[in-house]
Amino acid sequence: MTSASGVGTDRPRRSRRWTAGTDETAMSHRVALRIGPAGQDQPVIGIADTSSALNPCHDGFAALLPHIERGIRDAGGIPARFPVMSLGEDLMKPSAMLYRNLVAMEIEETIRANPLDGVVLLANCDKSVPAAIMAAASANLPSVLVLGGARAAPEFRGRPLGSGTELWRALEDRRAGLLDDDHWARLERCLAGAGAGACNTMGTASTMAVIAEALGMCIPGSTGLPASGTDIEQIAYQAGRLVVRHVVDDVRPAALITQAAMDNAIRLVAAIGGSTNAPVHLAAIAGRLGLEAGLRRMDTLWRDVPMVVDVEPGGTRLIHDFRAAGGVAGLFRVLGSSLEPDVRAADGQPWSNHAAEIRVDEQVIRSPAEPVAPAPALAAVFGTLAPDGAVIKAAAASPELMAHSGPALVFDSYEVMRDRLDRDDLPVSADHVLVIRGAGPIGGPGMPEWGMAPIPRQLAEQGVRDMLRVSDARMSGTSFGTVVLHVAPESAAGGPLGLVRDGDRISFDLAQRRLDLDVPADELARRTPAAPPAAATAHRRGWPRLYREHVLQAPDGCDLDFLVAPGPGPEPFVEPVVGRS
Ligand code: FES
Repeated sequence: MTSASGVGTDRPRRSRRWTAGTDETAMSHRVALRIGPAGQDQPVIGIADTSSALNPCHDGFAALLPHIERGIRDAGGIPARFPVMSLGEDLMKPSAMLYRNLVAMEIEETIRANPLDGVVLLANCDKSVPAAIMAAASANLPSVLVLGGARAAPEFRGRPLGSGTELWRALEDRRAGLLDDDHWARLERCLAGAGAGACNTMGTASTMAVIAEALGMCIPGSTGLPASGTDIEQIAYQAGRLVVRHVVDDVRPAALITQAAMDNAIRLVAAIGGSTNAPVHLAAIAGRLGLEAGLRRMDTLWRDVPMVVDVEPGGTRLIHDFRAAGGVAGLFRVLGSSLEPDVRAADGQPWSNHAAEIRVDEQVIRSPAEPVAPAPALAAVFGTLAPDGAVIKAAAASPELMAHSGPALVFDSYEVMRDRLDRDDLPVSADHVLVIRGAGPIGGPGMPEWGMAPIPRQLAEQGVRDMLRVSDARMSGTSFGTVVLHVAPESAAGGPLGLVRDGDRISFDLAQRRLDLDVPADELARRTPAAPPAAATAHRRGWPRLYREHVLQAPDGCDLDFLVAPGPGPEPFVEPVVGRS
């Protein structure tokens, strides 16, 4: 049967538990939704609106909302926008990551508690996209993500400015005395002039966009769109239409995000030279669905996937170029049998269909035979310093440091590191291994992006551009260098990182996937672990306390232990409306 709106009604629709009928309960709920009696035949589509003046990466969503709403209405649905906390990477301290799970929980519970049949999720900045997918996976109602597009690239130092990456480069140059105040001020003007949208390199936001698209959570072709203009407006409109179709066809996230789709996503992170944050988020998404995405599985899947996408920070171009060169469909084409082709995109088509139709510019999306960087682009390492694993972006590391052994120079926290790093009397050589601890999920708290310690000034001035760095922190997806991250267990959870002392030898061997602390076990047993930094325990109330008490380590996605179980919570009891004031 089809209603006057054209939307099929045979399938019992969730919102009808609230809105269908002639009694006072249904009437009251229809009044609250402002839909009238005819509205009970239409699906109600939530729009999780993460617009915020505190998050410039989400600035463009206000302009997209009318297009999403029009798409929902044209397909026969009823749009219902609701606000959601916005995770802005620039301003939230100590890290937006501290709040990723809170936003996932907020969206999931808003969906569960309200008469929604499907949802459009607005997400663009680094943590917003995984939070939205985690929420969608747990609520498991038909869901489509709308990404907010990438920011523009004004010219700086003679080339288009890659957000994030150019700032890191300029910072290193400034510390080495190569960038004067005029250029520094010009950089600020360029960054400010780039406008709304996500970082335009293959940082975390772009990496998560590729993942979202590959998992079937957003319209094919979404990744790398400019943040404004008719292309992204059209995608927003299509997303509105698509989510209503998903409701009619009962297409849910758990049916799209299969183990095969997850394995594809893991491989794609390597193919794009993606952010080291992605393994953490993928593990969290997998955990919500009962899928497997442990570090050993990831390392196996990464082993034969070279980096084929020539986009910064590992390459030379920007995310707009990736889209123009074929985007995610182009990746499926060049990677061929390395990926599972029958996994479905959000429009229901297998990715093999999209791959067959796309033209690829192999200057930007290269053939695996002529990659940007050889496999592996990412790797997981294990050893006496990281019993549960750690991650390195090999594609952004220096070949001469891929096997390195040197004395540790230990910083007990990021603050201590910033305080000591530029002192003239810092006892450091290029051979040293810089260790930052107290920066993990518990220690940060929230595992801030502190892992890429700057090169000590005295070495930067001598021309040193890279050193082996080891930490329990994350680093920005736009960063680069030989940086081993996410060491687990973290020092604040009793990991061996907390036992390292200045001068201890640390050995790293990428080929062997090893990270070892070369100190006898009996000596380590005599040592007292470093105390967590004061910041780890200073906040004794509210969300940070709940987070600290329940957060899992990086290989498990830094989710909260009580959010991992697959499947949505129970449907709420829809009570009679009697005597409500
Ligand atoms: Fe938001 Fe980079 S800071 S996407």
